[in-house]
Amino acid sequence: MIIVVANSKGGVGKTTIAVHLAAWLIEQGYRVTFCDCDAQESSSHWIREAVPAAKLVRLSTTNDILNELPQLDKETDFVIADGPGSDAERARALLLRGDLAIVPCKASILEVRALAAATEVLRQAQNIRGGIPKAVIVLSMIGKNFRLTKDMKDAAAVLNLPLANGAMILRQVYADAPGQAAVVWQLGSRAGDAAAEVENLFREILPEAARTRLVRTNKKR
Ligand SMILES: Nc1ncnc2c1ncn2[C@@H]1O[C@H](COP(=O)(O)OP(=O)(O)OP(=O)(O)O)[C@@H](O)[C@H]1O
Ligand SMILES: [Mg+2]
Repeated sequence: MIIVVANSKGGVGKTTIAVHLAAWLIEQGYRVTFCDCDAQESSSHWIREAVPAAKLVRLSTTNDILNELPQLDKETDFVIADGPGSDAERARALLLRGDLAIVPCKASILEVRALAAATEVLRQAQNIRGGIPKAVIVLSMIGKNFRLTKDMKDAAAVLNLPLANGAMILRQVYADAPGQAAVVWQLGSRAGDAAAEVENLFREILPEAARTRLVRTNKKR
């Protein structure tokens, strides 16, 4: 399964979600390929240190993405692609190959409105491929007491994209994690809330992956 973390807006939490998702899937017992599709290779360093079990691949051109993703998909259980900040052509290539798109979005009405433009390439891919990739919006860097306003619900509804119940709260520990060469659940008790939040979010988005782990664990006993 190819999961693409994509939003053509920069700095919305794509790399943070992609690295944590790759680490989480590895902990569920899956083989994971991580594709760094950003020219700045911002996630490569982090993933190499924090998630060494992931196979790291850099796909820096649209041709690389289109040509190599199918084979990578065969080699491991999950391919996680960290999308580029602003390169629409690379994002298009990813969405033409992906099975699921996770779309992080900062939780302000301006950002949600901007999603219409930021997800245009996603809608084109869905249109061409008969609804694939499936997509879900994940609110990112939200305040602890954040409540979704009616304006934001309406703006999201217009896009016809589901919004995950789980979200990523603005927490210093997420910003610290790359510098510590870690994902949040490796950072001890101060990161406990963040670890639980990430776990809940990924279980919601990928219930099958979490369920498989339960079955596997039960079998071991
Ligand atoms: N939930 C969060 N709480 C606090 N800081 C966060 C959170 N998510 C991301 N950050 C920080 O915000 C910045 C941008 O996040 P990130 O790099 O994940 O976004 P991105 O969408 O991958 O950016 P780019 O488009 O530049 O690749 C980083 O410094 C990151 O550590
Ligand atoms: Mg990034």
